Amino acid sequence: MANIRIRNTNKRLTKEQAVTSFLDKHGVLYEHWDMDKLSNKLRNQFLLSNEDKEEILSTYDDEIRSLANRRGYAEWDVVALSDATPNLDELLKKFENVHVHTEDEVRAITAGNGIFTIKGEEGYFDVELSPGDVISVPVNTPHFFTLMENRQVVAVRLFIDSSGWVAHPYEDPEFKQ
Ligand SMILES: [Fe+2]
Repeated sequence: MANIRIRNTNKRLTKEQAVTSFLDKHGVLYEHWDMDKLSNKLRNQFLLSNEDKEEILSTYDDEIRSLANRRGYAEWDVVALSDATPNLDELLKKFENVHVHTEDEVRAITAGNGIFTIKGEEGYFDVELSPGDVISVPVNTPHFFTLMENRQVVAVRLFIDSSGWVAHPYEDPEFKQ
């Protein structure tokens, strides 16, 4: 279940109805996948073989194809980040720059946690994600992604066209880390 923190006011939204309507108002897709479908070993594993990634994709094949049919995604893969990832700190530094994409950025969290910080009408807000959360940052919306204290995540990514997923830096004097 995602939680929201509105950065300007430090207000937190934790109730499902409040989170859902806040994200809906900002055009952010928010859905859930059933984590009981995933094998136990993959719920807490952050170094993944190609076979592990294939298992995640086949476990959620129906959910992936449903999203793809509704929203036009043509490609998908699995990404894993943890302290076992070479240069994790450098990668996170790169991720933490506000940017936009020419297609929406959809992620389904299958293990660990992550935060999307997104620019809304009233400034930036953090969406803290847990396993089962599926989110999509709308096209051309300033945002960035980072990890939470546990510094580990596994996520399915879906793309309309993987070349659309280039990060275009967005200079924003309003933004404070
Ligand atoms: Fe992005």
